[in-house]
Order: sequence, then structure tokens, then C-alpha cells
Amino acid sequence: MRSYSKPNEIFLLESHRFPGIFVARGLEDCLVTLNKTPGKSIYGEKLILSFFNNKRLEFRVWNPFRSKLSAAILLGFNSLYFSRGSKILYIGASTGTTISHCSDIIGRKGIIYAVEFSYKCILQLLFTCTNRENIIPIFGDARYPHKYQIIVPIVDSIITDISQPDQTRILGLNALYYLKKKGSFLISIKTRNIDSLSTEEAVFVGEKEKLCKLGLFPTEQISLEPYDRSHALIGGYFNL
Ligand SMILES: C[S@@+](CC[C@H](N)C(=O)[O-])C[C@H]1O[C@@H](n2cnc3c(N)ncnc32)[C@H](O)[C@@H]1O
Repeated sequence: MRSYSKPNEIFLLESHRFPGIFVARGLEDCLVTLNKTPGKSIYGEKLILSFFNNKRLEFRVWNPFRSKLSAAILLGFNSLYFSRGSKILYIGASTGTTISHCSDIIGRKGIIYAVEFSYKCILQLLFTCTNRENIIPIFGDARYPHKYQIIVPIVDSIITDISQPDQTRILGLNALYYLKKKGSFLISIKTRNIDSLSTEEAVFVGEKEKLCKLGLFPTEQISLEPYDRSHALIGGYFNL
């Protein structure tokens, strides 16, 4: 499925402060990435054809209601925690919505090892990966990281988005196996999945304490309201 912006819709493209991300300024400004597979839309996102640096290029709108990372960037996250050429272990790949934009950002020299344990999602993810040679889908359970040891090398960053009560522990386990020293991590926290009785702030504090005990030191946290309710994204670095 693809839907192009209307021919009379004019967008001016500007680089975002995070390399590989752009801001399309039109009637409504939006975050976009350069489409690695021109003509192909992954999750029904709008495609924009526009001139940038005197070249006619195709960009994909990065929907903050569909991707927590896009929401965090729009809400002013200070760092992206990965860049062009990064090796990323992505836990909770789902059908590849966010991964497809990360794939645009890291470019040809980067690679994403995308772990997903749902059979239905991994099938859809395989379609997402068509012509995106920088995504390696892995059908596996992130609770058992040793099972994908044969595929995944030491990585620069781990991104975790699995909505599981023990996701911090799962991130810590995967970091021990695969994250380089001083490597970065991003984890999305859904308070209701962890403890529905405590206040949101208490859950975030508790999760940050757990992260520190695992050698994962948070540098920032952002609430994803209004794009995603009771969710926050935490970013930081590994130092064990
Ligand atoms: C919220 S969705 C991820 C959305 C995705 N990050 C995106 O923005 O496109 C969470 C996914 O994590 C997967 N998941 C949950 N627990 C997992 C585990 N232990 N190992 C692998 N995948 C898991 C679920 O099947 C689901 O597809």
C-alpha cells in the first residue's frame, strides 16, 4: 500500500539535528526519513517526493502515533543513541514499523538484528525487509539471548520495546551478551504492564534503579504523552 502526498501539496525539506532524519515543512510539519526502497510504503505511511540538495528524493512520513521513537524525537529527546553505520539489536521488532525508519537512518553500512517471537509479526516483518538488506529478522524469544548467539555479534546499541513486565531484566541479559562497553540503549516503559497499582513516577524510578543495577545507566527519560499514554522512553549507556 502506498499513498503519495497530493501533487499540489508542497513540502520544504530540512535536515533534523539528528543525522538521517528530516523535517518536511508543509501545511503540517512532519518528521520523515529518506526512503531506502523508493515506491514502497511499509505501514501505509505517506510518501513525499521533494527536492533536497538539488536532488529529487522520496521520503517516508514517520508517524509519532505509530512509533514511540518518532514521538520521543518530536517531544525533544536529547540524543538518538544510534547513527549512520550503527549495529543495532532491536528487541520486539513486531511488523517493522519503527525498524523500517531505523533502517533508513543507519544506511547501507549499518545493520539491525530484529528479534520477534510472534509468528504472525515475523511473517509481516519479512515483507518489510524486502530490499532492505540492513535488517536481519530473527524469530526468537529475547528471554533466551544465547539462542541467537550464532547470528548476532557485539552491537553498538540495543533498542527494547516488548511491553513485558520483566523487560528491564531482558534488556540487561541481552546487554551482557551483545552490547559493547559504553554502548547505548533505548527502552520503552509502559507503567501499567509493570505495576498497575503504583504511580507512574514510582514505576519509572523503580525501573531506573533496576537498570543501574544491570550496568545500564539512564541519561534521559521522556514521557510520550500525548502520542502514547502511560509510556516513557529511557535512553542511556552501558558500563559494566
Ligand atoms: C509494542 S510491540 C513493538 C512495536 C515496534 N517496536 C514498533 O514500534 O514497530 C511489542 C512486540 O514485542 C514482541 N515481544 C514481546 N515479548 C517478546 C520476547 N520475549 N521476545 C521477542 N519478542 C517479544 C511482541 O510480539 C510484539 O510484536
